[in-house]
Amino acid sequence: MNVVLIKNLMNHLGEEVVVNGWLYNKRGSGKIQFLIIRDGSGITQGVVTKAERPELFEKAKEITQESSIQVTGVVQQNTKSPGGYELQLMNIEVVSMAEKYPISLKKHGVDFLADRRHLWIRTPRQSAILRIRSEVEMAVREFFYQRDFIQADSPIITPAACEGTTTLFEIDYHGEKAYLSQSGQLYLEAAAMALGRVYCFGPTFRAEKSKTRRHLLEFWMIEAEAAFMDFEENLKLQEEMVYHIIQRVLERRKADLITLGRDITKLEAVKLPFPRISYTEAVEILNKEGHQFTWGDDFGAPDETLISNKYDSPVFIHRFPTDIKAFYMKPDPQDGKVVLGADLLAPEGYGEIIGGGQRIDDIQLLEQRLEEHKLPREAFEWYLDLRLYGSVPHSGFGLGLERTIAWICGLEHVRESIPFPRTLHRLYP
Ligand code: 4AD
Ligand code: MG
Repeated sequence: MNVVLIKNLMNHLGEEVVVNGWLYNKRGSGKIQFLIIRDGSGITQGVVTKAERPELFEKAKEITQESSIQVTGVVQQNTKSPGGYELQLMNIEVVSMAEKYPISLKKHGVDFLADRRHLWIRTPRQSAILRIRSEVEMAVREFFYQRDFIQADSPIITPAACEGTTTLFEIDYHGEKAYLSQSGQLYLEAAAMALGRVYCFGPTFRAEKSKTRRHLLEFWMIEAEAAFMDFEENLKLQEEMVYHIIQRVLERRKADLITLGRDITKLEAVKLPFPRISYTEAVEILNKEGHQFTWGDDFGAPDETLISNKYDSPVFIHRFPTDIKAFYMKPDPQDGKVVLGADLLAPEGYGEIIGGGQRIDDIQLLEQRLEEHKLPREAFEWYLDLRLYGSVPHSGFGLGLERTIAWICGLEHVRESIPFPRTLHRLYP
């Protein structure tokens, strides 16, 4: 049996092949039936005429939407078929006939679809997004592999906070208090002192209380950390990684971007190096353009959008006020009021996709910061050890996978960028 993926039909012109998939849609007349078949790799059509195969024609007419089927047919070119090829059907095996499918091909409301996310992901648009997500993940691994970064995954269950105590998910660890990880960074710093250049990629958790288009309660973060890497080198690594992701998606997933109706010229316009502006410069721009903004405040979504709209590429905002950033950020030696931290804002109003910076490598300052942030020292003893035994300047960053995908795909909301989103009021399915 010559089983092929729909995306590879073009390599089997004139051959008899077998496709395993589901019936996405069907149309026809009294004389001809078209079965629109999907297999996850693509969509194609199978054709059968009453004149040539009357029994198969009758069988085809009975198959319901989303039934699982195995079809045998000869591959032919047809510009009118989805994907440009079709199957002249010779046989159809119904693996399982589907009940009446709850998602029809017309428009549905978001809540209706979200309740049926397990079925919604079968639709062409959602499948295209998930294929792009997979491509982004591959691109990231390829990028770090090429640069001799070792993947060193961080734990999910942790005894301490990394990104502030307000968004912690608490769990009961056999009577001991523990938290779901907000970021793998602290462990990655330890791994960087062992392996030099490292990255981790895993789920992270924030008990966010605000309902926005950009926040999930569970999201995936790609984090990198390197010993002896300074602030500027860190920015360069980030922009090269983001550029690499975009190039790979453009190269391999253009058809999916087209399915999504994405304006591809916007992605093609991304160029290296990305612009860099300081927080203080950003504040000046905001005030000049009518946003009343006080130095020392954190940016809101409209502020980020105003700034990112000035550029075709993502833009770095660097050197934030110490008070609005995490405890571990290294002060700028030129100006003690700001830290060597930077956010990368995606174009088109997608907001912050990366947070990163240089870390404090001095033990006294780190101890002081833990106190200022009222973090329990016992939980951080191991982290302080890193500054006792061969401390070095080091930097790193974390890229939010879902926000990056939302930008690449041009999505309205991050919830479509992950197979099963966890949002403020949704834990099902
Ligand atoms: O800026 P954040 O909080 O940085 C850190 O966690 C650092 N410890 C990372 C590091 O340096 N290793 O989060 C990093 C990124 C953000 O820029 C954003 O893209 C994403 O994670 N992010 C979220 N994505 C979806 N939903 C949320 N609730 C998110 N919170 C952060
Ligand atoms: Mg941030």
